[in-house]
Amino acid sequence: MEKDLMSKIISLCRRRGFIFPSSEIYGGFGSGYDFGPLGVEMKNNIKQAWWEEMTRKQENIVGLDAAILMSPQVWQASGHLTAGFADELVECKKCHHRFRKDFLKENKCPDCGGELTPPRKFNLMMKTFVGPVEDEAAGTYLRAETCQGIYLNFLNVLNSMRLKIPFGIAQIGKAFRNEITPGNFIYRTREFEQMEMQWFCRPQEADKFFDYWKTQRIKWYLGLGIKKENLRAVEVPEKERSHYAKRQIDIEYKFPFGSPRFGGEAGWQEIEGIHNRGDWDLSNHSKHSGQDLKYFDEETKEKYFPYIIETSAGADRSFLTFLIAAFHEIKGGRTKTTKAVKEEEVVLRLDKRLAPIKVAVLPLVRNKPELVKKAREVYQMLKPYFTCQYDELGSIGRRYRRQDEIGTTLTLTIDFESLKQEDLTVRDRDTMLQERVKIKDLIEALKEKLEK
Ligand code: GAP
Repeated sequence: MEKDLMSKIISLCRRRGFIFPSSEIYGGFGSGYDFGPLGVEMKNNIKQAWWEEMTRKQENIVGLDAAILMSPQVWQASGHLTAGFADELVECKKCHHRFRKDFLKENKCPDCGGELTPPRKFNLMMKTFVGPVEDEAAGTYLRAETCQGIYLNFLNVLNSMRLKIPFGIAQIGKAFRNEITPGNFIYRTREFEQMEMQWFCRPQEADKFFDYWKTQRIKWYLGLGIKKENLRAVEVPEKERSHYAKRQIDIEYKFPFGSPRFGGEAGWQEIEGIHNRGDWDLSNHSKHSGQDLKYFDEETKEKYFPYIIETSAGADRSFLTFLIAAFHEIKGGRTKTTKAVKEEEVVLRLDKRLAPIKVAVLPLVRNKPELVKKAREVYQMLKPYFTCQYDELGSIGRRYRRQDEIGTTLTLTIDFESLKQEDLTVRDRDTMLQERVKIKDLIEALKEKLEK
């Protein structure tokens, strides 16, 4: 049943232009997925909602967009090139398939039952070359976490923006990890996007801010429609923490697929990490770069490495979370107006901030030129204000279902009354209630519905 749900969601994503497999015409390439026309709108909306929350609404958090390619010394200093950022890999001696050891239930190949090699550490950094010569000197890595660019710019941002501790720097961007076993659709991929905020504070205030940001981040998911019972925060024991973390809490969502980690509880999987990174990053970058990254506190007259509280969310995992939470299948359909046997109906109950299409414009029928003309005029009028779609193909009922399936918040219909009264109906996706609105008042009325 649960597996069935995931295949329905994956099929919807492909059919309706949310997500496509990468490099499909070449047989696929197991590193990531491509976000289609509706997927890119929805992902941008998620990133926008995060940016609003983590920068615009805050007094003391500023943004950054650092380069993906950095000096290889960065990854030496951060600890990512050592065993700290490696998974244990085992290989089947018979079929040569490779697995993460902590994802295996038994000490034999899950594909053919063959004997496995002893585990060896496999570093997740993706290597690349910069410039025309492919030798060691030109080698560097695609960033494995976006936050390192923030640490490198700690002084630049502090000085140019005249900030005082505590303050934060936020960034959204791509990260890359050579995952041994990508899987569960966009849950674990080799190329993905992170939304990270680094909060620089006095060491003695780190615990207080850790709890504060944990609460704020949980509220963000709840505020965008995730149910309380499907979200939890788990304290990560010391031996399982990331190499830089003094304390770590994983925010987890109850997914319809099991945890690949042997011993992990089925369903519950990480979507965001809250980390107290202490002075790990600034002190190591100071040591390796020879630059003094300490902060002078004018109030206490002390010089110290600020502690960092990090909130690290995945844009793709958030996408999957919101998509699964919004997916509702209604057996027999919702409309009660005809007695005909109805098929299953899908409604994507996305928060209006996340829905890829806010407004759809439909002429009641497409073989009446005056209705089509009016509908196209309304569509052109709304386009600069809202993400809109115009649809005239198929019966009106079918078109409503098509819009419900992609989560369109409001659907407008131009009918014969519209021609006489200069108005149209506005249908709400979730209640299916329809209301007549004058075309001259439409933009304000829609703003009111979509933005309040
Ligand atoms: N800077 C801290 C950091 O990167 P992390 O727990 O390794 O922490 C943070 O990653 C978030 O990034 C995860 O909670 C997840 O949402 C996302 N993420 C990590 N690896 C991912 C992968 N292979 N595919 C998709 N998202 C991933």
